[in-house]
Formats: sequence, structure tokens, C-alpha cells
Amino acid sequence: MREKLSLPRLFADTSSIPEIERLKELGLIHGITTNPILVAKESNTGNPFGHYEELAKSFPDMPISIQLLDEDVPTLIQRAKSFAAISPNIVVKVPMFGDGRGLSVLYQLTREGIKTNVTGLMKAEQLLLALLVGRSQGPAYVSLFFNRIRDGGGNPTEEITRSRHLIEAFNFNSEIITGSIRGQKDVYEATIAGAHIVTVPPSVIWEMIHHHKSVEFIEQSQRDWEKLTQKL
Ligand code: E4P
Repeated sequence: MREKLSLPRLFADTSSIPEIERLKELGLIHGITTNPILVAKESNTGNPFGHYEELAKSFPDMPISIQLLDEDVPTLIQRAKSFAAISPNIVVKVPMFGDGRGLSVLYQLTREGIKTNVTGLMKAEQLLLALLVGRSQGPAYVSLFFNRIRDGGGNPTEEITRSRHLIEAFNFNSEIITGSIRGQKDVYEATIAGAHIVTVPPSVIWEMIHHHKSVEFIEQSQRDWEKLTQKL
């Protein structure tokens, strides 16, 4: 029997400040996720760290995930601390490296009380290990990658449901962020499967908002009203 679900929160999966500002006005966005690929699209100054500071300053009331790079464990820890020092709303995104570095880093950051988001998860078994590190209440966030799971031949909704079951059954505090969203149906499926949070590129939010028949209806209403009032 499936757990009773709650509606997910939406995060903006972008590092574009103007795009986040637009979405924030809609009252839909409760957090931001970035990764080096997204930052590379926005920051052409060669100073991504400056971009992170600007993001944190622009949206101090939202959790902002910033991803670590592919480095050795001591460097990862050092970098994680420098990210966390930018602002209290920064969440350090720890990649699930195939050689276990991610778990070592998670263990140390958890002990130091740094808020983390374990990223690049493709299956519930990886997520289970992230939950178990340090026998804590789990990292703040665990990120499953919807379309990358599908690209790899997996079933993203099944992995979300299995992961949510683990979290509920064993009383972890971690929240599942579903990322790698490419279309509006992915948001719906991630919601039904049990994601706590869906992080969505702005283009997909606008795709969800728009329907050509809604536009047609509004235009027709406006035209007919204007015709009517001209007669008065
Ligand atoms: C979010 O946390 C992820 O970094 C992002 O959604 C990955 O998306 P992609 O698979 O489209 O690169």
C-alpha cells in the first residue's frame, strides 16, 4: 500500500537570476538548484564563485544548491566549506562519485553540520547509502535524476517511489528532489511517484502554464467584450 502523498514544492533548476525573479513573482518557487553545466550557461565572467555570491544575495530566503566538482576528498571538503560560508541558505551538492568519495565527503560534512544535497542519484540503492551515512537523520536533500535514469534504461517513477518508501518507512528527514526534468509530463509523473520537491527548468514551467486553446479563449473573450462595449 502506497504512503499518502503530499504535494511537492517546486524549485527552479537554473542559475539565471532574471529567470528566477520572473518565476518567484508567480509564487511557485521555493528553492534553487544549480550545477556547473547550468552555471556555465550564465556566468561568462570566468568567476562562477562571484555568480554564486550574487545568487545567494538575490534570493536569501531560498535554499540554493551549489555542486562540488570532481576533486580529491580534502579539496572537496575545503570547497564545500567555502560554499557553505557564502551564506546560510547555501546547500552543498555532493555528487555520488562511483568510488565512494561522495559518501566520505557527506560523512564529514554531516558531522560538521553543513547542509547537503546528494546529487546524481540514479537508483534507490544509491539513495539508501546516502541516507545511511553517519546514521544521522539523512542529508537534507537527495536528488534523483528523472531523465538520466530513463536514458540509462531505468524507470524513474519506480526509483522515486522506492526511495520515498525508504524515507517514510524508516523516518528519515531527507527530501527527494527530482531533477533532470525535460517536459511537463515529467513534473506530473514525479509528483505522482512521490517526489517531495521537483526542480524544474524555467522553460518547463512556462510550458506547463501555456495552452494555445487557453490563449484562444482569452483572446475571444476580450474581442467579444470590446465589441459589446463599443455598442454601448
Ligand atoms: C538538478 O539538481 C540537476 O543538476 C539537474 O536537474 C540535471 O539536469 P540534466 O540531467 O538535464 O542535466
